[in-house]
Amino acid sequence: AGGTIALTPPMGWNSWNCWGLSVSEDKVKSSAQALLDKGLADHGWNYINVDDGWQQPQRAADSSILPNGKFPDMKGLGDWLHSRGLKFGMYSSPGPLTCGGFLGSYRNEEKDAATYANWGIDYLKYDWCSYDQVMPADTSLETFIHPFRVMQQAIRKYPRDIVYNLCQYGLREVWKWGPQVDAQTWRTTEDIDDTWESMAGIGFGQYPLEKYARPGNWNDPDMMIVGQVGWGENLHPTRLTPDEQYTHVSLWSLLAAPLLIGCDISRIDTFTLNLLTNDEVLAIDQDTLGVAAGRRIATAHYEVWVKPLADGSKAIGIFNKDRQYRHLTVPWKDINLSAKPRVRNVWTQRDLGVIPVAYTVDVPPHGVVLLRCSE
Ligand code: DGJ
Repeated sequence: AGGTIALTPPMGWNSWNCWGLSVSEDKVKSSAQALLDKGLADHGWNYINVDDGWQQPQRAADSSILPNGKFPDMKGLGDWLHSRGLKFGMYSSPGPLTCGGFLGSYRNEEKDAATYANWGIDYLKYDWCSYDQVMPADTSLETFIHPFRVMQQAIRKYPRDIVYNLCQYGLREVWKWGPQVDAQTWRTTEDIDDTWESMAGIGFGQYPLEKYARPGNWNDPDMMIVGQVGWGENLHPTRLTPDEQYTHVSLWSLLAAPLLIGCDISRIDTFTLNLLTNDEVLAIDQDTLGVAAGRRIATAHYEVWVKPLADGSKAIGIFNKDRQYRHLTVPWKDINLSAKPRVRNVWTQRDLGVIPVAYTVDVPPHGVVLLRCSE
């Protein structure tokens, strides 16, 4: 393990944004089954990650962590997922308690890693939560990193390719030291919400972290708030408009972000399904070069992001940040393209031919035009 895990960003599902602390085995299986039935797995979606809320309030006599009544058989769930070609994600905290008040792994890291390995996990989200309360008073970086190192050493004893996700909301410039604890992904932000302000604030705010992304190490701008979300209460369709959702998926793909669907997949609608199964868009996220997009143009009204791809072409997102249509012109030379690229619209999967000098397009409110250009 280490150095060969997550050479492209993980893709899958996480329970938090739809089920919150009410997550259960049945709910996890219903999204996993829908992921298979609706064909999402065939487009690369394969991690099924259980978030907070699965633990019993007391450990066993031998101090093992136990799942609560909503998860009658955790190893069985892992086997069920694996037998269907899916991967199994688990969640804990370095603190005594998780953010939801369930038991964390503090001082039981070895024990918990052994339990997880026995359950067959492929992904661990390790969420800072209550660790503040037990952290030594000194504020050194080493002190902050320490609990993540402890769990790193515990899980890496087992011969499993476990994606290690540091969930600590971007504190202490995690992108600079995440690789030192053999983390594959690290949260760069606070929690996302299904509003334009939250999604766009996080997404466009990733500049200039692109230089810290590479195969096996990815910035994590949090999960995708598409479809039915609700954090365990009042599930509702995401408040993002369709164009805002195109922006969400385009931006996350350009950023080479982990793509974790946050909705109840058993109730996915046709629009959301189409949004998540455009292979040309997903190929931008999953490109093997593993270079995240950089921001090349940014004004109050629009931004242009460019991601170099393994075949020498470039993915280009032209984003309208206004609440009205914008007629935008992007001169190729301003984003370091040759004067005569061949251009393809990736969402519509249409070749636009050779477009000399500049590209002019109407971009809808809060929307995007996503291109793939070869020179
Ligand atoms: C905070 C994290 O940022 C969320 O993604 C989620 O895991 C919750 N904690 C769970 O309590």
